[in-house]
Amino acid sequence: MYRSHTNGELRESHVGQQVTLAGWVQKTRDKGFIVWVDLRDRYGITQLVFDEERTPKEMMETASRLGREFVVQVSGEVIERESKNPNIPTGAIEILVKEVAILNQSLTPPFTIEDETDGGEDLRMKYRYLDIRRNPVRENLVFRHKVTMAVRNYLSEKDFVEVETPYLIKSTPEGARDFVVPSRMNEGQFYALPQSPQTFKQLLMVGGMDKYFQIVKCFRDEDLRADRQPEFTQIDCEMAFIEQEDILNTFEGLTRHLLKEINGVEIGEFPRMQYDDAMRLYGNDKPDIRFGMEFGELNEVAQHKDFNVFNKAELVVGIAVPGGNKYTRKEIDKLIDWVKRPQVGALGMVYCRVNEDGTYKSSVDKFYDQEDLASWAEVTGAERGDIVFVLSGETNKTRAQLSALRMELAERMGLRRADEFAPLWVVDFPLLELDEETGHYHAMHHPFTSPKPGQLELLDTKPDEVKANAYDLVLNGNEIGGGSIRIHDKKTQAIMLKHLGFSEEEAKAQFGFLMDAFEYGAPPHGGIAFGLDRLVAILGGQETIRDFIAFPKNNAGRDVMIDAPAPLDQEQLQELNLKLDL
Ligand code: AMO
Repeated sequence: MYRSHTNGELRESHVGQQVTLAGWVQKTRDKGFIVWVDLRDRYGITQLVFDEERTPKEMMETASRLGREFVVQVSGEVIERESKNPNIPTGAIEILVKEVAILNQSLTPPFTIEDETDGGEDLRMKYRYLDIRRNPVRENLVFRHKVTMAVRNYLSEKDFVEVETPYLIKSTPEGARDFVVPSRMNEGQFYALPQSPQTFKQLLMVGGMDKYFQIVKCFRDEDLRADRQPEFTQIDCEMAFIEQEDILNTFEGLTRHLLKEINGVEIGEFPRMQYDDAMRLYGNDKPDIRFGMEFGELNEVAQHKDFNVFNKAELVVGIAVPGGNKYTRKEIDKLIDWVKRPQVGALGMVYCRVNEDGTYKSSVDKFYDQEDLASWAEVTGAERGDIVFVLSGETNKTRAQLSALRMELAERMGLRRADEFAPLWVVDFPLLELDEETGHYHAMHHPFTSPKPGQLELLDTKPDEVKANAYDLVLNGNEIGGGSIRIHDKKTQAIMLKHLGFSEEEAKAQFGFLMDAFEYGAPPHGGIAFGLDRLVAILGGQETIRDFIAFPKNNAGRDVMIDAPAPLDQEQLQELNLKLDL
């Protein structure tokens, strides 16, 4: 028996018991005649004491040899501590050691294995197994497990069946690039790793599975950010014989259940917002609605004066920052610099102070009188003591810039509280999106998403206006899930693919299997997929998903611990029929 108890378990009530513990040496304090050791495992820390008078001599010697992160097993008696430590659960007792065995030695770790560590991100990733010994990382992984279990139990109780789908598949377009895997047995041919199990879950519906879910890895070769990894996990779900309303209710139920189980927060019905409204009011399809600062469009009240910047802009739009009139000139200049950074990309920013006495002071007083500025305040909802920030330019870009400013200000003002949860359904997404670079339309969600009833006809004439039966679930300004009602007949699917630029042959080659399946009694169906990593991070009060992944990749898509990706040797390349001409 390696251990009778864990290191988080023993209390005053155990005093007098003989116990055996095992774990890692967190730290030692060696006074020669007495040695204290903090022994750590997953469950906590227990203090060991080696005392010249009461511990056998050879054990005292071993104690003096213990270094940080040595793996040891000790046996001894639980005794009451003279000076108790109220900060840890085992702080009332210590173990008077009778026997100690070094199970394994350790090199000095490259960073301190404590809650606050001196190790930088890269170092911690290289030695992730040591990082996982730290409380915050371990707690995040245990937290993830809890969320995952809660999801599985909830869905299983609601009659959903978890079905595994293959990882070696043919490319399914979901907007990102595929990771591909060469096939040794099929020369010159490649599998793609799934960006999601989208087509398979639809085929499961044709197969009559009716309610499916899968907690599943997905792979996307895209640019990485704090909330994106090249391999990530989805809670992937699909239902048959349902309408959009059924999906929203079912998965609102799941989310509400998680918020209650995991966070102890009860949330009523989730608000719903049309995509167009989200863009107009927040400049963003995943608005954080924990705070206000909604956009006010100022074209009507700010154009047709002599200020040309606004006159030639497609959109003039502002937000009122509560209490913002206290900003000094210097602070405002810094914010202007902030929006002009290339990452945000604004050319400049106009401001208008709303003074406590009800007068206005703007950076464009030359062009606008008090009455004009009063209407800016009215449109943006600014009150006395606020400041209005105004950006202008091309609609989409300007909205994105003001949205970035809104989020930044909220962050600085402490309005993005981690313990406050504001879920939101964003519905009625456009079906298509214009790729500005190529001038082609592509599916905003994916090519299997059905247009709203009666809108198929608009595809030819007003493709921008066609709305889809597509929805996203947003939590605290993050897209945690997205889905749609699917096309389930071959004809509509063919029309859709044609509009996305697939020739008949291409459509057949890529999606023939799905279109064929649609000819054998495909039921109406739809679904959603949650990003598990994101969901877990946000429920855990954070936004960086790496912290909730055991072995994440860095921003360049590398695993710095195993040093992947890596070149293949010539022999392996040959076997795969791959020739590299570099
Ligand atoms: P979608 O592409 O919206 O939908 O993905 C669903 C959810 O997955 C999460 N997500 C990611 N998380 C981490 N890293 C990434 N690179 C990443 N990409 C996406 C997001 C997102 O909301 N097949 C459809 C679902 C459906 O229609 O049912 C799909 O994959 O939280």
